[in-house]
Amino acid sequence: MSVSVTEARRQTWSAGSYDTHARFVSDLAGGVVEWLALKPGERVLDLGCGDGVLTAELKAAGADIVGVDSSVDFIAAARAKGLDARLMDGQALAFENEFDAVFSNAALHWMTDAESVVKGAHRALKPGGRFVAEFGGHGNVAAIATAMRAVSIRRGGDMTLAAPWYFPSPAVYSALLEANGFAVKRIAHFPRPVVLTTGIAGWLMLFRKPFFQQFETEAENALAETVELLRPALCDAQGNWTADYVRLRVEAVKP
Ligand code: BEZ
Repeated sequence: MSVSVTEARRQTWSAGSYDTHARFVSDLAGGVVEWLALKPGERVLDLGCGDGVLTAELKAAGADIVGVDSSVDFIAAARAKGLDARLMDGQALAFENEFDAVFSNAALHWMTDAESVVKGAHRALKPGGRFVAEFGGHGNVAAIATAMRAVSIRRGGDMTLAAPWYFPSPAVYSALLEANGFAVKRIAHFPRPVVLTTGIAGWLMLFRKPFFQQFETEAENALAETVELLRPALCDAQGNWTADYVRLRVEAVKP
């Protein structure tokens, strides 16, 4: 069976591969969980819950929590943890006046229709409810994206496949929230270098497989070229790789 062009460009997720190469994502969520300041019994929506590791921690802390994600594999992994996890596009949330908090960690940069996300979160909250999120901010993975663009130019590839993410600045995201009825309580934009214990090639293939797949039989060579372009910037003299993450963390309230 042939795969459509759109299908080939889509990011897909394997819960097992994510666990191997990206477990640091839920491990590093302490700061945004602190901003959430959960009170036991609160009804919470975990927007982009992934495999549910963090959702389960919030449930154990007393949240009455629903997780949503657009990946079938992630939802299966979250349900296997006993969670109420629902297959849903975060850009088309189907909730109304139901939650005390909408929470999201490391997911919103995948949802490029940010206005629909913000409108859906606002609709999902009860009056007085809060939206607490952390995701990639302006400048996130800039070296990684630039290296892929350079490889794309060299090989005549499709550059739009290099960085299909939404990484807003605090000014841009605050304006979006306020234009859609939120009051921004606090917003932070800060570097978070992340040591990649399994190296950069695993990260690139987990998060940007469609970019490399476009080169078909040359995919391995394109990957090796990207790794070599990144080595001077992101690999130290002992061979340790660090990803150039930048975070945007926000708390906003629905009046
Ligand atoms: C992030 O968490 O910042 C991120 C993860 C994968 C791809 C791009 C960004």
